[in-house]
Amino acid sequence: AQPLSPRHFLDLRDLDGTTLRQIIDVAAGIKRMQRDRARPLHPALPLAGRNLGLMLSQPSTRTRVSFEVGMRQLGGDVVVLSPSDMQLGRGETIADTARVLSRLVDVIVLRTGQTDDLHELARWSSVPVINGLTPASHPVQILADILTFEEHRGSIGGRTLAWVGDGNNVATSFIEAAARFGFTLRLATPPGHEPDADAVSWARAHGARIETTHDARAAVRGADAVITDTWVSMSDRESAERLARFEPYRVDAALMALAAREALFLHCLPAHVGDEVTQEVFEGPQSAVFDEAENRLHAQKALLVWALCGEDWTRFGREH
Ligand code: CP
Ligand code: NVA
Repeated sequence: AQPLSPRHFLDLRDLDGTTLRQIIDVAAGIKRMQRDRARPLHPALPLAGRNLGLMLSQPSTRTRVSFEVGMRQLGGDVVVLSPSDMQLGRGETIADTARVLSRLVDVIVLRTGQTDDLHELARWSSVPVINGLTPASHPVQILADILTFEEHRGSIGGRTLAWVGDGNNVATSFIEAAARFGFTLRLATPPGHEPDADAVSWARAHGARIETTHDARAAVRGADAVITDTWVSMSDRESAERLARFEPYRVDAALMALAAREALFLHCLPAHVGDEVTQEVFEGPQSAVFDEAENRLHAQKALLVWALCGEDWTRFGREH
């Protein structure tokens, strides 16, 4: 028999809507178990003896801690690998690195500034590879964001979300999510920082309503959530000109007032309060940003169970 291909998680578009929905539902179940303080937290320890290789070539707080803690809560363990400390830094190829790590760990998370490296790693790896952020996308973040929206505001299908700011990696993953979860996404970006055209046309071809504009107020009007992100991503160079272009896209109370009365404010963090969002909105009652950060843990535990626990992985999260 052919070996099954590993369950990579490179971009949301690679998974069907049913599987993504199941991941969110399992994540919600896992979160309930944790909130009920069931002890031991996961009696079945579904990942006992399994190891995650966490390769981060850029800084991270949430991605690192949530994958590390999540893996341990599920009974597994983690090896944190800094690519500059690996032989990769001295020229060992990604293909060889992938084939070696596949013999030693059970799943790999990669955060990289070189999007091609993620695809090269996945091509050569016989264990699941998870995208921990590239300049092109950040799909694990969006799992947490969907979970956060739904726990505060109910089902996301048919709702309208507004993205204000940079058409960056997180925006691209939101665009793909709009197709997979059936919500409308309006994106307001400055000229020159529009969302990825390929992602927009892919999502539209897959039934999503994606509206792009340069007018933040038009995007936000009546929306069920307002989302932003830093104006300077890790793959960008900061400059005064760049920041000036984003000034009209700051999420402030006046902008939030145009959204639905109960609109949620989301931000993947880290935030630059005073730039992309005011203190008033960031700390205000509509802000769910710290739930969003916590939900990285629950969502990624569900993702790890999907990647590693075979066909009946959805049983997990229903054990209480
Ligand atoms: N949101 C996010 O991915 O945060 P880190 O960069 O801290 O991992
Ligand atoms: N867009 C940001 C997200 C950080 C989690 C970046 O790429 O730096």
